[in-house]
Amino acid sequence: MTATVVLGLAWGDEGKGRVCDALASDADYVSRYSGGNNAGHTVRVGSEEFKLNLVPSGIVREDVVCTIGNGVVVNPEALCEEVQALEARGLSVRDRLKVDGRAHLIMPYHIALDSHRELALGDARIGTTNRGIGPAYEDKVARYGIRVQDISDEGILKAKLKAALREKNAIFENVYGEKPYEVSDLASWLLEYEDFMAPMISDTGTFLREGLENREKVLLEGGQATLLDNDHGTYPFVTSSNPTVGGAIVGSGISTQYLEYVVGVTKAYTTRVGDGPMPTELFDETAETIREAGHEYGTATGRARRVGWLDLPAVKWAASLNGITHLALTLLDVLSAVEKVNVCVGYEIDGKRFDGYPMHQTDLHHARPIYKELPGWDGDITGCRMRVDLPREAREFVEFVEAEIGAPLCMISVGPEREQAIVERIAV
Ligand code: GDP
Ligand code: IMO
Ligand code: MG
Repeated sequence: MTATVVLGLAWGDEGKGRVCDALASDADYVSRYSGGNNAGHTVRVGSEEFKLNLVPSGIVREDVVCTIGNGVVVNPEALCEEVQALEARGLSVRDRLKVDGRAHLIMPYHIALDSHRELALGDARIGTTNRGIGPAYEDKVARYGIRVQDISDEGILKAKLKAALREKNAIFENVYGEKPYEVSDLASWLLEYEDFMAPMISDTGTFLREGLENREKVLLEGGQATLLDNDHGTYPFVTSSNPTVGGAIVGSGISTQYLEYVVGVTKAYTTRVGDGPMPTELFDETAETIREAGHEYGTATGRARRVGWLDLPAVKWAASLNGITHLALTLLDVLSAVEKVNVCVGYEIDGKRFDGYPMHQTDLHHARPIYKELPGWDGDITGCRMRVDLPREAREFVEFVEAEIGAPLCMISVGPEREQAIVERIAV
């Protein structure tokens, strides 16, 4: 009767999919609670690599049931393609995947608005994944959204589309000089997915709570990450949902009483895709070395990720915000490629030292990292399975990070493969 949340402590791509896959070996259910197909979670099983956008990582394990919670925004076309692609690779998906009827749908006009807005912002753009995420959440909050359950009631669907398009079409025609959308076209497009979606639609919150009451284990898989959170992240360079622990409760429909573990995932360094402040970003050869060693190219969009040293004040703040019970440290093996390792331990902001994480965005833009230099280590560590197997310098790095963040490590990932990990504590 426990729920575990797995969430990112930085700007995404921390290896949440990989950590979820490891923890899912002890879970009955894996559920996504926020975001949509802006996420890209990688799971490696032997020679097979799965890149999951909307479907929870647990689907890779045949004995796990997966849910897409009410807090997720669902593009039915993308979901259909992803499910079909996974089934084509031999996984059973439709009989193990449930989609909450309260989740909102991403419609074609959301994607069009996302790209128009980004173009209009020019240099001030957010660098979104262009998947319509922001506009879909806007409609949800504005109460103009179309929900998954609306797919099975054509009358209501058309009435809702009509209401949504009144303002939307005025924007498309008058602001962006585009053709208006027709209710009938959109309804026909959506209804093409009715047969595919209908068997999966359910009340996933009630389903998970029943499982929890029956002493089953639920893993809540975060998309995006803390510094991309709409409330807590580097606004406006954020996503439009709450990937943080509160979002896991709201977006999955389970209550706090079941929540036992919160696993915060951080890389041994920092990456960011998209625009916005990143105090430890590197622009030199080291960035290139880390990017190539870590294959730091976006899973969802293929964009080269910005790379920098581990930003401890940011990660510590994110760990505290989410009340993490455990830490998972990933991509440690990538730092074998550099001679010396820097860790940001504070910032200098307008000539003054600042040890916390600044609330004011201007301060974050002005923050210059203060580094502690640690010795690097030689050799391949992907074969290490216990902490004592690590070279002394790598162990010291791990101990330093663990002590600074103040949460025990449950896992140190030393490679992308399922078995390339040092597993230290049970967190599910
Ligand atoms: P997520 O969005 O948080 O699930 O992370 P992504 O899947 O977008 O990005 C993480 C990338 O790092 C993927 O390509 C993983 O296969 C890879 N990865 C995860 N853990 C490790 C690790 O410990 N070492 C290495 N070298 N790669 C890893
Ligand atoms: P996972 O789950 C990294 C970033 C985008 C952009 C900002 C807003 O794989 O960690 P959006 O399309 O959400 O409106 O874009 O958020 N972003 C991610 N960056 N990993 C992700 O997901 C991301 N999802 C969104 O690059 O900066
Ligand atoms: Mg990712």
